[in-house]
Amino acid sequence: MLLSASLCVEYGKHGGSVLWLHYMQRVPFVCGNWKMHKTVSESIALVNALSSRLTDTSVEIGVAPAHTSLYAVKKALADDRIRLVAQNVHEAPRGAFTGEVSMEMLLDVGCDYVLVGHSERRHIFGESDELVAQKVRTVLAGGLRVILALGETLDERKQGSTLMTVRRQLTSGLEGLSEDELAKVVLAYEPVWAIGTGLSASPDQAQEVHRALRTQISDGWGSEASTKLRIQYGGSIKPANAQALFSQLDIDGGLVGGASLLAEDFADICEAALT
Ligand code: PGA
Repeated sequence: MLLSASLCVEYGKHGGSVLWLHYMQRVPFVCGNWKMHKTVSESIALVNALSSRLTDTSVEIGVAPAHTSLYAVKKALADDRIRLVAQNVHEAPRGAFTGEVSMEMLLDVGCDYVLVGHSERRHIFGESDELVAQKVRTVLAGGLRVILALGETLDERKQGSTLMTVRRQLTSGLEGLSEDELAKVVLAYEPVWAIGTGLSASPDQAQEVHRALRTQISDGWGSEASTKLRIQYGGSIKPANAQALFSQLDIDGGLVGGASLLAEDFADICEAALT
């Protein structure tokens, strides 16, 4: 994560004090993905409980309610410490797309980020790398920030193709972005086999992939861009394992599903990103 002396030395070997300085500026980002849970009143209750429980502001915190609760959650947020994140967007600006939601609508309700490429979108709803890439561009063109999720399936891990898979997803998702556009992207590495299973990746397994992703960003956009980019881990994060994961050098917070539905647990996870 950040501010460790050993880390500064390690990065210093490659790039000197400029890289060190940028690393110091990487603020962890912990985002709760509520998926298809919580009615409007339940969403308001949850975000209020979370607001009153949070004391520190040095971690960036986000919540991603269902579309039906976005507006109400925005209104309920008494302060701007908590970012509003949409779980999905359609790639077209408007039109005959029954059941879909546009960027204009997400801007209108006050979203700050849009989550794109979540494994449930890729695997349950059949979103291809190409569609995910289109959505990334739609979000950036609309002026919001994007959380781009990627990760390998259990079969891909067993076959030893984890890094090949995430590199392919990264290449496709971010292809052609300028450095300015990249600065509005947060990556979320979420091994599919760890999502909602209770079986988190180990800190070492996650760190290996995060490091590979950061190296790929460095190869494409330069070391400065790569040291600024935040990479969240996601997949069965709980209060009990959060700190071990977040203390890894290249893990900058998390994308939290199940545990984000309980204000206490989610606040504990946010606090684990501070230490
Ligand atoms: P989980 O979900 O924390 O319940 O594993 C993570 C996610 O889907 O983002």
